[in-house]
Amino acid sequence: MKATYYGHATVQLDTGKVSLLFDPFIRPNKLAAAIDVKQIKPDFILLSHGHEDHIADLFEIQKNSNATIICIADILYWLNRKGITKVHGMNIGGAFRFEFGRVKMVHALHSSSLPDGSYGGSPAGYLIQANGKNVYFAGDTALTYDMKLLAGEQLDWAFLPIGDNFTMGVDDAITAAGFINCKNIIGIHFNTFPPIQINEQEAMDKFAKAGLNLQLLPIGQTLQL
Ligand code: NI
Ligand code: MN
Repeated sequence: MKATYYGHATVQLDTGKVSLLFDPFIRPNKLAAAIDVKQIKPDFILLSHGHEDHIADLFEIQKNSNATIICIADILYWLNRKGITKVHGMNIGGAFRFEFGRVKMVHALHSSSLPDGSYGGSPAGYLIQANGKNVYFAGDTALTYDMKLLAGEQLDWAFLPIGDNFTMGVDDAITAAGFINCKNIIGIHFNTFPPIQINEQEAMDKFAKAGLNLQLLPIGQTLQL
């Protein structure tokens, strides 16, 4: 499995069979100006919640790729009203076996409204089991005790927010890595806006001191998981 980072919380996982794009927010992100949205053609787009900084490029990429959107049922209703019907709705705690592997929607502690003020349901994270790997995409979330429920999932990698202010910061993400029992962490949701700017070296040092492998991928970079 390969992961490509497109900035903020936008991640593409290539399972070998299909590509899964999480939380598309590229064109409004000045740090991701080198990324051409037209080149991104996933098979599935997974949404953690309805905030603008997670769905800004949803419509453009879905139109270009005809991808199936995976999201919570409440966002499915909103997309249906906008004429998008290629949507697989889920809800917290539910898993489904897709052609490429298993997806489980898990709890995230955050908020979720859509850009027009519509109800976005609960925010969510995802567990992905595909091609022999177990990956957790936390979405926007605080540190929560519910993360301990993932300790037995034998996670190979986890995408955790580390930018603070809107989500967990570095220290809570280190605690979260312990709760979920995963040593390989890829940081997301940092540096995009002034309130979530981090000192990357300090974050690297803190994770290393905790015995954890933190990857802060340059935007556009691909990592073999
Ligand atoms: Ni959010
Ligand atoms: Mn966000």
